[in-house]
Amino acid sequence: MATEIFDKVNQMMQEIEQANPEGAAAIEQFRIQYLGTKNIIKPLFSEIRNVPNERKKEFGQLLNNLKQAAETKFQQLKQAAESQASDEEAAKIDLSAPVIGGHLGARHPIATTHNRIVDIFQRIGYAVAEDREIEDDWHNFTAMNTPADHPARDMQDTFYLLNSTEMLLRTHTSSVQARVMKNNQPPIRIIAPGRVYRNETISARAHCQFHQVEGLYVDENVSFADLKQTLYFFAQEMYGPQTKIRLRPSYFPFTEPSAEVDVSCFICDAKGCNVCKYTGWVEIMGCGMVDPAVLENCGIDSEKYTGFAFGMGIERQAMMLHQINDIRLLFENDVRFLGQFSGAL
Ligand code: PHE
Repeated sequence: MATEIFDKVNQMMQEIEQANPEGAAAIEQFRIQYLGTKNIIKPLFSEIRNVPNERKKEFGQLLNNLKQAAETKFQQLKQAAESQASDEEAAKIDLSAPVIGGHLGARHPIATTHNRIVDIFQRIGYAVAEDREIEDDWHNFTAMNTPADHPARDMQDTFYLLNSTEMLLRTHTSSVQARVMKNNQPPIRIIAPGRVYRNETISARAHCQFHQVEGLYVDENVSFADLKQTLYFFAQEMYGPQTKIRLRPSYFPFTEPSAEVDVSCFICDAKGCNVCKYTGWVEIMGCGMVDPAVLENCGIDSEKYTGFAFGMGIERQAMMLHQINDIRLLFENDVRFLGQFSGAL
């Protein structure tokens, strides 16, 4: 009798291990049979009294194992069935179906403005020259004729690398002028877009990082008239055919003579509004004839060649184009702001 009941339990154990019910109904059947309230394992527990004392413990353990095996098997069956169901669900997804209500991304206004500026100059034969943001003092300042005591060189205005008086984050893209002229002889006709850094307090009008586009044209007989015509062309392409420009005398260490360029306000058609502060004019960039000392610093014969250069802030142009009144919006990546530019290229 005792061995018989042991055999019965062992056989049931085998049945459980080999069971392979398929489908929800068969799995449920398995559960009812082995784990339900009237399961077939339960009555075996009362058989314990027929087992001789010295084997009672062994028998008890065997029954516990049996119960455990049924439970484990059931969990495995359940999981396998669920994952099969989700595979079937996934297989039903039509990857070629059109997206419903999907949110399309948009280019950042700095990128669209950058592209627009680059495109205008590429059309008149300017090549794009990009270079490093971590610069040395020579390319950023010395080559650009900026004297040792110039305020821009101060720690207050420039981010120097830690423990360095030599390496810095470029404060303007004019450093690319030096890079290009050192490595190329005229004719040189490049624009250099890129990020620049200044140690400024962040406000609605200023940021410690922004973008510039530098322009440089060096050849024989390049004149101020060429500069003016180039900028006039740019202004009309950028702000519309009715746009006028005005040059005001200014000063930069690397250009002589130097000028600040204003465009007639395209928002109010120069009648006066808060963008042009009721003057009818908006400043867009600095420019000038390349100082002969800069040409010589970079290995270009200043007797033979002349050139002009200009530099503009991309954020500034973007803010004017889109009437954005706070530069910080351009760096915060708030989708409520950026979403307004979807559809722009
Ligand atoms: N580098 C100047 C600036 O950052 C701009 C500039 C470039 C002026 C080239 C003249 C010529 O303000």
